[in-house]
Amino acid sequence: MKYDTLHPFPPEFLWGASTSGYQVEGAWDADGKGPSIVDARTDFPAGTADYTVASDHYHHAEEDVALFGELGLTAYRFSIQWSRVIPDGDGVVNPAGIAFYHRLIDALVDQGIEPVVTLYHFDLPLALAEKGGWGSRATIDAFVRYAQVLYREFGDKVRYWLTINEQNMMVLYGQSLDILDGPANRGVNVYQKNHHMLLAQARAMTLLHDTVPGALIGPAPNIAYVYPASPRPEDVIAADDFNAIRNWLYLDVAVHGRYHPVAWAYLEAKGLTPVVEAGDDEIMAAAHPDFLAFNYYATHTVAAPAPDGSVSDPSDMDQQIAVGEAGVFAAVSNPYLPKNAFGWEIDPVGFRMTFRAIYDRYHLPLLVTENGLGAFDTLEPDGTVHDQYRIEYLAEHIEQIQWAISDGVQVLGYCPWSAIDLVSTHQGVAKRYGFIYVDRTDDDLRSLSRHRKDSFAWYQKVIASNGLPG
Ligand code: BG6
Repeated sequence: MKYDTLHPFPPEFLWGASTSGYQVEGAWDADGKGPSIVDARTDFPAGTADYTVASDHYHHAEEDVALFGELGLTAYRFSIQWSRVIPDGDGVVNPAGIAFYHRLIDALVDQGIEPVVTLYHFDLPLALAEKGGWGSRATIDAFVRYAQVLYREFGDKVRYWLTINEQNMMVLYGQSLDILDGPANRGVNVYQKNHHMLLAQARAMTLLHDTVPGALIGPAPNIAYVYPASPRPEDVIAADDFNAIRNWLYLDVAVHGRYHPVAWAYLEAKGLTPVVEAGDDEIMAAAHPDFLAFNYYATHTVAAPAPDGSVSDPSDMDQQIAVGEAGVFAAVSNPYLPKNAFGWEIDPVGFRMTFRAIYDRYHLPLLVTENGLGAFDTLEPDGTVHDQYRIEYLAEHIEQIQWAISDGVQVLGYCPWSAIDLVSTHQGVAKRYGFIYVDRTDDDLRSLSRHRKDSFAWYQKVIASNGLPG
């Protein structure tokens, strides 16, 4: 639908930006921090940075937050590293880790920036992975205890909490990227691990509501609307199936405390149903998110599965892009969408569609916790970075948020990925997302100095005008 005029962004709209702990902090073993599964990774493609130094935010936090203040952010979405706070995941608390996050949160609050805290972003403590990872129900208890430590420490300073970043990506692709629970645990049914994460999330939501009055919490999956490749009914069913398996499975449990019927049917058909113990259903049904956060990069397009069981177009084999599953769906490229330098489709209108689909199903306020363009940026000799392509990408997506608001969707805020350059999940430092350039490469730490990109000045104007400047 087209409107003559679009609704304005609400005055309290959160204009934010995002990072995650392990991708930005570095200092991987400093001041008592324990190793996490991402620190233990050894499978980096040649020439790709690991996470030991990252953007060295641990040692630049005050400088970085001052830049976020200058940018005008009203929210900053970041994650706490579980193994910085509890080095072995379920033992003693590390006071230096707690002190770092107090310093960070205090600096944000001083700048008038709302902290939006993710409890867990891919970085399971290695010691827990060695004890069975998410396949073990003991990890649920460890997660809840960790959440309790954070609520007690930071509950009076943090209003917005996120449970688990992209649980659906961890389940669908986490084993190949080693962001689920490490290679040693690969034999265990991933949907059993998923069930345990859903229970951990439910208990963490209920615990926050029981212990920190006024605090708000929600899940943060990666939600991307799935289009059928054509109006052929078989393609439409395939798209609906993949929507259920990729998106609604996670949000239905988070919101309604029950598995989506089609997703459950898929698990049964594949022999992947988790063991659900007595009391699990009650735990899930008792938990209620206050809002839904979601990360959005691009939609998917799928067709009916090929009769010979073959799956899709190999050019689409990327983390964010499903390649299909025999007997379920076949992923295809969408001919109407351009691609970025890394082969990811770009679909701002699909962003509006994704908002509508989520809001229509759950009627909860929505917070965008990631969206952005990975690109090869160039630091010019005079310290400038001309990233007009990123400005265009972000402007197109912000415009679609306004369309979604005009459609009646309640949107709390927008936190594009990323506030500052960081190390990508599997494509190193060369793939940059930030408003702030960090002077390092994949194989040379250089000065680690910070530089405002052109998108920095542009986003500053967007925030100051509470929407796209006219
Ligand atoms: C999301 C993750 O999947 O996408 C981030 O939550 C990640 O951690 C981001 O960095 C972009 O993906 P990538 O692979 O380009 O780093």
